[in-house]
Amino acid sequence: MSSISKSAGKITTHVLQKMKNNKEKIAMLTAYDYSMARLLEMAGMEVILVGDSAANVMAGYKTTLPITLDHMIYHASSVVRAVERALVVVDMPFGTYQGNSKEALHSAIRIMKESGADAVKLEGGQEIVDSVDRILTAGIPVMGHLGLTPQSINKFGTYAVRAMEEEEANRLAKDALILEKTGCFAIVLEKIPAALAANVTKSLKIPTIGIGAGHDVDGQVLVLHDMLGITQQFSPRFLRRYHNLSMEITTALERYINDIKSLDFPNDKEQY
Ligand code: KIV
Repeated sequence: MSSISKSAGKITTHVLQKMKNNKEKIAMLTAYDYSMARLLEMAGMEVILVGDSAANVMAGYKTTLPITLDHMIYHASSVVRAVERALVVVDMPFGTYQGNSKEALHSAIRIMKESGADAVKLEGGQEIVDSVDRILTAGIPVMGHLGLTPQSINKFGTYAVRAMEEEEANRLAKDALILEKTGCFAIVLEKIPAALAANVTKSLKIPTIGIGAGHDVDGQVLVLHDMLGITQQFSPRFLRRYHNLSMEITTALERYINDIKSLDFPNDKEQY
């Protein structure tokens, strides 16, 4: 089967739709800075998410709530400068779109204008539809995000799996259809039962991207620092670690310190 992604130039929302239609899985990962985004681009990542998880992994906050619109624009513009092909999606931070669709439009326009990104992502279902609708009127593509939505952690009280009960599962399935009808081009499904994610994926024409949502979704996303093993304290069941970079980096740093202390660095060839 020929690959839609490989034969595409710039990845657009239309390419992602064709990939779903062709049953071709979508690869998405977070990035928050130029150097990492460059590596993702070189590896052929289709979607790069400038996630508000930057609040956790870049700034050390406990939740994603404190990150601001200015911070997100700074991270997003750094990523955009590294990328030519991948679709760059930017999380709208907490407090910039909920309950006020005019403010949502203003925030989304700032992200697009000041960072040069391709799309924005918002957390929530029915309750944010007015904001999604208004952002779409400006021609800005919107990705939805359902299930464990970290900006609502104070309401949930825990990062446990969502939609285990029938009522919440039904609401999520309905929200997914509402987001599709409103015009979202894709939906992230975070930490929900695999069977529910599979049913939602089947019920939608647009692609779903899972994180802790099993394999019967149209694509997968992880947080870059988690899958590379840079962060260590976070190890949910769904996280596959592809490297233990924290160990490799600390070993290199210790060698550097030792080389300085032992007068090995710099040597004669490393000076002018
Ligand atoms: O902020 C983020 O990194 C995300 C992903 C976990 C989907 O929203």
